[in-house]
Amino acid sequence: MAHLPERPRLGFFVSHRGSNMRAIFDACQDRRVRAEPALLISNNKSSAALAWAEEVSLSHINLCPTGAGSEEALDEAHLKALQNADVDLIILAGYMRKIGPLVLAAYANRILNIHPALLPKYGGQGMYGHHVHDAVIAARETESGVTVHLVDGSYDTGPIVDQTTVPVESDDTTETLAARVLKSEHSFFSETLTRIISGDIDLDSLR
Ligand code: GRF
Repeated sequence: MAHLPERPRLGFFVSHRGSNMRAIFDACQDRRVRAEPALLISNNKSSAALAWAEEVSLSHINLCPTGAGSEEALDEAHLKALQNADVDLIILAGYMRKIGPLVLAAYANRILNIHPALLPKYGGQGMYGHHVHDAVIAARETESGVTVHLVDGSYDTGPIVDQTTVPVESDDTTETLAARVLKSEHSFFSETLTRIISGDIDLDSLR
């Protein structure tokens, strides 16, 4: 894969709230992350993420399988939108669908996802939102965390880029743990991006 440019253009995929995207956007504005937010793609036309993108004038598009006609057509539409926006690096932040084969091939080792636990534990289909934190508490873990990983054709299985830990307190509820992990996600994703863009982390060396 070609090296990332000095100031890579970011393409976000978000299904709902978009707080991680907003944290990265703010970090780019403050120059803590040397990147240019270029595009948001959402499968959910009612998402808070799309409403926010409209407010801040970030290019955005709602693409879903029903609108596109098929999964294949959706994959083609994703690729066209990403290429039209000159996206260099794709950020999945709360995107509830798999990425299609065309985009995976065109952006090999250039698609990142964030997961609110220490993968490979507590990942995979159905492990999202409160389900993750419920499972961590039920297993009486004393530590959870955040994982940034490369995306492949499955859920939460690509090579791990980096992880950080978050303590689980004995009186944690799903909500208190979720809030602590999300706070950590907001700083950790930007920090990891900075290390990728500076060359400190080489995405092409990850298997
Ligand atoms: C985050 O917890 C992220 O780890 C997971 O989905 C959630 C998205 O939250 N993949 P937000 O939309 O960024 O607020």
